[in-house]
Amino acid sequence: MTEREATLHTDAGDLELPVVEPTAGNAGLDIRRLRGELGYVTFDPGFANTAGTKSSITYVDGAAGELRHRGYRIEDLAEHCSFLEVAYLLLFGELPTRAQLEAWSLEIKHHTLLSEEMKRFFDAFPRSAHPMAILSSATNAISTFYETYYNPSDSEAVIESAKRLIAKMPTIAAWAYKKSIGQPYVYPRNDLDYVENFLHMMFALPVEETKIDPVVARALNVLLILHADHGQNCSTATVRSVGSARANLFASVAAGMNALWGPLHGGANQAVIEMLQEILDDPDATVESTIARAKDPNDPFRLMGFGHRVYRNYDPRAKVLRSFAHEVLERTSGTDPMLEVAQELEARALADPYFAERKLFPNVDFYSGIIFRALGFPPRMFTVLFAIGRLPGWIANWKEMIEDPDTRITRPRQVYVGIVDRPFVPIDRR
Ligand code: CMC
Repeated sequence: MTEREATLHTDAGDLELPVVEPTAGNAGLDIRRLRGELGYVTFDPGFANTAGTKSSITYVDGAAGELRHRGYRIEDLAEHCSFLEVAYLLLFGELPTRAQLEAWSLEIKHHTLLSEEMKRFFDAFPRSAHPMAILSSATNAISTFYETYYNPSDSEAVIESAKRLIAKMPTIAAWAYKKSIGQPYVYPRNDLDYVENFLHMMFALPVEETKIDPVVARALNVLLILHADHGQNCSTATVRSVGSARANLFASVAAGMNALWGPLHGGANQAVIEMLQEILDDPDATVESTIARAKDPNDPFRLMGFGHRVYRNYDPRAKVLRSFAHEVLERTSGTDPMLEVAQELEARALADPYFAERKLFPNVDFYSGIIFRALGFPPRMFTVLFAIGRLPGWIANWKEMIEDPDTRITRPRQVYVGIVDRPFVPIDRR
């Protein structure tokens, strides 16, 4: 088979661009020789048309609204797997056998405890601290206990770091929450599975026995799976970018968490609930006025939980969550007026030409918050839950980046448009 090429014609000359062939989705044009040979760079704000890497972890078909990890459909994984099973798939490329899954779960359990010294770290934050700030800081902080694992080229150390991150993240998240409500930190229990243990650390009190509701545990398991990876999104691209400087895995993941915190990314789940709450509470904020604000080019407000860089169709994760929200609500709190508002908002937006023309559909964050609420989580913890879910994806991408011989330090070019040269003016003459 002959290799495809594209020809670029410019005033500086022509260039044959080799085509990077995909197994699915868009092919790439390899422009690596462009600047050296023709003196041009590509201009692509937000890298919306730029592939910074080849990847075999996650495939998103934005037009069809499909998401697959290592070839498996997200709907199948959400229905049949545990979160740790999906984490194994993302990291190692294959679904684990029963024996492999047992060994993997056991290894994760061995690392759930935080060093006692970390307690003082949590104590130092103000009660009002946002748990995302604590989460990323603590992720950086725990790296100080594992300096011997810092070398990205040491594949065993990378796996050990990965296990510790996955094992300790629920403990960090739950302790960030306990800190915020002034309750004692609850230690992990290794007789529980990953999700049950997290729920135990979140909601247990030393003064009484707490039972974990299997409906809640199952629902959280599905939610974590739905968040586990999503290609080169902002936080994953950040993790790769920081790691490309050969920063260690802990430092790279902490950076990704900070990217996730933004309201246009993982912070959207908290913002959706705040938007829906406003519609419920404020007589001036109706479904109509919220949609009108989102459409107003002079108002920076956006309909939170709507739109996506890749999906030009219904986000398949939102589809799962939409029906799942009813199921969870029926089995937990019964009803939630917020779900009705969300459905009305969705129906009105989908029928509106502004959203139809721009192909804006509900994304994963539109319904996730309603379910997180029904499971008992406060809105400020929503993005933390997203982070626990996304962690295996970040690690899998970081590992793929480190192992890829094509990896170079991330260092995009710019098109300079500022003043070129000026005589220096001493301070007393400015
Ligand atoms: N409400 C109103 N208008 C919107 C929205 C929205 N939620 N999203 C996009 N648009 C408009 C945008 O104003 C632009 O209009 P025009 O062509 O007239 O200028 C057009 O649609 C294209 O938008 P864009 O900003 O070029 O799209 P993007 O790919 O750069 O941004 C996005 C993607 C997710 C940041 C954006 O859709 C958004 O801000 N959505 C709300 C926040 C949100 O829900 N984020 C969660 C994303 S999914 C999970 C995750 O990654 O964390």
